Amino acid sequence: MVRKISWFLFGFFAVAIGLYPLIYFFVDRTFGLLIHKSDTLLANTAYNIGFYGHIVLGGLALMVGWIQFHTSWRQRHLKRHRQIGMIYMISVLISGLCSLYIAHFSTGGMITALGFISLGVVWLLTTGGAFYFVRQGNIRMHEKLMIYSYAGCFGAVTLRIWLPILIGVTGDFITAYQIVAWLAWVPNLIVAYFITRRI
Ligand code: HEM
Repeated sequence: MVRKISWFLFGFFAVAIGLYPLIYFFVDRTFGLLIHKSDTLLANTAYNIGFYGHIVLGGLALMVGWIQFHTSWRQRHLKRHRQIGMIYMISVLISGLCSLYIAHFSTGGMITALGFISLGVVWLLTTGGAFYFVRQGNIRMHEKLMIYSYAGCFGAVTLRIWLPILIGVTGDFITAYQIVAWLAWVPNLIVAYFITRRI
């Protein structure tokens, strides 16, 4: 029962937050983080490609990735697992590279930018490593690195859980955002470390 509820919550958060970037296409640009950006930046084509490329493909990676960890589903649908895996990897490649670029314009300055750049590097390296190892036939390392990759990706969910709490505690959005740029993913990687130790 607990297992079923955990799976439901895991899938629910991945899909709900995966769909969240769509809001940016339905409301005007005075929404979310874009409120904090200058008019010059908002008119910059490279920034817009980076921003929308990041949020759409990041959302897709988050939305498709969670099902891959369901062992019995994976065993029954190996071909589907490979197809979804390719979608995930390509999405991470594009979204991750875009994130490295847009991180330079992060709200909150250097502390936030460094947090997101570090996460972007971890996301790209662990996903790339997982791809390399599956090609080598090393399934154990593939599985381990995918757990780290998705733990980083799931930072998009944990960020949105931590942020309102941190705003409440600090009483200041910028301070909360600087903290969450690290808190959203470092604990996730620690959890991933303990999960991968059992494999
Ligand atoms: C795992 C690696 C990720 C990194 C390194 C990363 C990095 C970033 C950066 C640097 C920004 C801009 C922050 C700013 O301008 O202050 C951002 C914003 C955003 N990211 Fe990501 N991100 C990641 C994953 C994801 C995923 C998986 C999603 C899927 C939902 C996502 C959705 C968004 C959205 C919607 C925004 C706009 C801000 C908001 O409305 O919350 N990101 N991200």
